[in-house]
Amino acid sequence: MKLRILSTGVAVPENTVTNDRLSEMIDTSDEWIATRTGIRSRHVATGENLTELGERASNIALERAGMTPSDIDLVICSTARGDFVFPSFACCISEKLGLTCPAFDVNAACSGFIYALDVADGYISTGKAKNILLVCGEMMSRMVDWTDRSTCVLFGDGAAACVITSGSALKYLRVTADGNTRLLNMPAGSGNSPFAPRVEPGFMHMLGQEVFKFAVSSIVRETEEAFSALSITAEDIDLFLLHQANKRIIDMARSRLSQPEEKFPLNIGSYGNISSVSIPILLDELLTAGKIKKGSRLLLSAFGAGMTTGTCVIVWE
Ligand code: COA
Repeated sequence: MKLRILSTGVAVPENTVTNDRLSEMIDTSDEWIATRTGIRSRHVATGENLTELGERASNIALERAGMTPSDIDLVICSTARGDFVFPSFACCISEKLGLTCPAFDVNAACSGFIYALDVADGYISTGKAKNILLVCGEMMSRMVDWTDRSTCVLFGDGAAACVITSGSALKYLRVTADGNTRLLNMPAGSGNSPFAPRVEPGFMHMLGQEVFKFAVSSIVRETEEAFSALSITAEDIDLFLLHQANKRIIDMARSRLSQPEEKFPLNIGSYGNISSVSIPILLDELLTAGKIKKGSRLLLSAFGAGMTTGTCVIVWE
């Protein structure tokens, strides 16, 4: 493994929607949402599109890396749904930044950031790329049914970018997919063909309690897998950056790993679940606050539709 994350950048929509605002629209309450999930508010786009957010996040990451777009030789984006079916979100970012290097998307739902890191590592390790712009962007507000209180309260919109270059920060990375599309999905629809039955695109479907169980067990299993591969224990990790889907999932995984609360930073309260953007936003916040320094030992772990997981260990450089 040959990579390090040089810099990060974040952009979220200006508009925020509080739990109280949601309870004016649907039968819910701040008390229910906060107690069951830890979420108090989320960013929901009104005017911005995903490409604009991705471009803003990218410019911040590039500036912090001391680079210009011409230093980038590969763009990898993670999204479940860009502004277009095609071209890819990555090509939209390239257009905005004036780039002509290869660009493509990865879709591993909420595990997308770790999957994209894995692909980036492959390109850097084989010498096919030197400096990679990795952008995660999600507009979850376009995918949830705003009349379904069991899903719409959970998600938010945003984008986060990283500049990745060669280094030795990444110590371990493992991704999985168990071929289960039943627990969490969103039908794409059949389009307009006059030759086939019409299937409406529809909204996100989720079996919440089954996803919850999958989440806790996969985080614990994959974390222990990482410990055993590196011959370390939970005590050797300074910070666990877990996918911000539900505070109760994080609390339960933490208690199974017998680790103190301060090692599990949270930002779900003000963002909700932004799918693959969740972990890189948290990373950006911790870096900006000076809580991640050279030598900090991080474990990142995510789970998502598919059902996918992605877990990696990074010693910050
Ligand atoms: N406000 C008020 N009540 C709500 C509600 C809301 N927003 N959403 C659901 N309810 C109600 C249900 O209708 C149900 O009512 P009933 O008992 O009268 O039937 C009750 O609350 C309990 O619902 P349940 O689904 O059992 O709640 P839960 O404790 O499992 O919490 C989730 C629901 C979705 C918060 C939880 O299952 C979860 O977080 N799952 C994981 C989701 C996830 O991480 N998804 C992303 C994966 S990347």
